[in-house]
Amino acid sequence: PTKQTNHHSFSTPEIKPDWVRDESKLVIDGETEINEQLRMIDFNEGDVQLLHHMRPMISRRIDWIVDSFYQSVLDVSKLEEIIKKHSTVEKLKQTLREHLLDMFSGNVDQEFILKRLRIAKVHKRVGLEPKWYLSAFQNLQNAFLQTIYQEVKDEQLLLQMVRTTTKLLNLEQQLVLE
Ligand code: HEM
Repeated sequence: PTKQTNHHSFSTPEIKPDWVRDESKLVIDGETEINEQLRMIDFNEGDVQLLHHMRPMISRRIDWIVDSFYQSVLDVSKLEEIIKKHSTVEKLKQTLREHLLDMFSGNVDQEFILKRLRIAKVHKRVGLEPKWYLSAFQNLQNAFLQTIYQEVKDEQLLLQMVRTTTKLLNLEQQLVLE
């Protein structure tokens, strides 16, 4: 195995990157802390490309993913109150749909990072505690993994997608809990 020298190199050479997009580019140049965070979880160019590749699959199931997300959130009366006080379920469903598809666009750049930091502020403002935020992430992960298992039969690819998706969710959590 080749040693990874930087975050632009592929750590997953066993998957032929036939979906390579030359314009896909990982984040901010230089030694920023976010780059160190990305390296620490081994989030690399291969993940970016795989996310982009997965996007149509997620898109096909997005309504189900979002519906099950809000079902579980609304089951918690405290969270239902927060939502009704500040917004509506229909509005937030649309917001989440866009947000999730955006996550799979493969564009992890400065705008991506800043958007997460802004979302964190919004949630803080409405009084959403981190424990509920993290629970919501687990719900999303369950839905993503179920989608992937239903759609992908190749074991190697399946493992890669699970790994990439959990890295992505971990990254989101790092940013929103900052
Ligand atoms: C707003 C994503 C969990 C309640 C938002 C926005 C996004 C988002 C993208 C729009 C932010 C903006 O205006 O720029 C997420 C994600 C979650 C999550 C990815 C979990 C993985 C929750 C939970 C609740 C919640 C569990 C439960 C109370 C709200 C509310 C707003 C909001 C009330 C709207 C605030 C306002 O417009 O004044 N969320 N959310 N979110 N979220 Fe979440």
